[in-house]
Amino acid sequence: MKACVAPSLLAADFADLKSEMDMINRSECDWLHIDIMDGVFVPNISFGFPVLKHVARLCRKPLDVHLMIVQPEKFIAEVKALGALTMNVHLEACTHLHRVVQQIKESGMKAGVTLNPATPVAMLEDIITELDVVMLMSVNPGFGGQKFIEHTLDKVRQLRNLVDRRGASALIEVDGGVNRDTGRRLREAGVDILVAGSAVFKAPDPIAEISALKNL
Ligand code: DX5
Ligand code: ZN
Repeated sequence: MKACVAPSLLAADFADLKSEMDMINRSECDWLHIDIMDGVFVPNISFGFPVLKHVARLCRKPLDVHLMIVQPEKFIAEVKALGALTMNVHLEACTHLHRVVQQIKESGMKAGVTLNPATPVAMLEDIITELDVVMLMSVNPGFGGQKFIEHTLDKVRQLRNLVDRRGASALIEVDGGVNRDTGRRLREAGVDILVAGSAVFKAPDPIAEISALKNL
């Protein structure tokens, strides 16, 4: 099976979102990855719902929303109103992760749980069978264009093992520093979904880059 590729909006030209969304719509990408930050959970702020409403209107690909915010459960209705396919929350941001996952699923979205680089895969042992997606951060969240953390490859193998051992159906997604080189090695380790910001939007030919990532 080909990789699922989700370009990250964070690396797009915000002054020309219309053209960027035209590119996304014409490309072979599967999802558009959207990073929402609050300046509290991560040391940066990206964009909020008033802007995303217009992105959602222009984008014909399913939206994969990655919330880097505290208390993400407060925004389930807003994410749903965007028409999102997947809502990804950080394990480190949810005291009652099980409840948040149920609420996301009850709202009709796929539930994704994201782990920071220092959070062990074993933390998912008691919830893995409830999840549609697990996303491993391969950089510290908050900024695009960072270097891939190599230990992520070990975590992908551990997660693949956990998913298979528990008979779970969660897809494995990786976010941060993904390019053709790291993407190929991630695919070999068992990743289903590649998120790529700079590698796609800063490429001379973003459509060709998306195609290359899909065919790794
Ligand atoms: C980082 C974000 C990523 C980011 C990836 O906090 O979650 O989605 O856009 O950017 P690249 O691909 O440039 O590392
Ligand atoms: Zn992200």
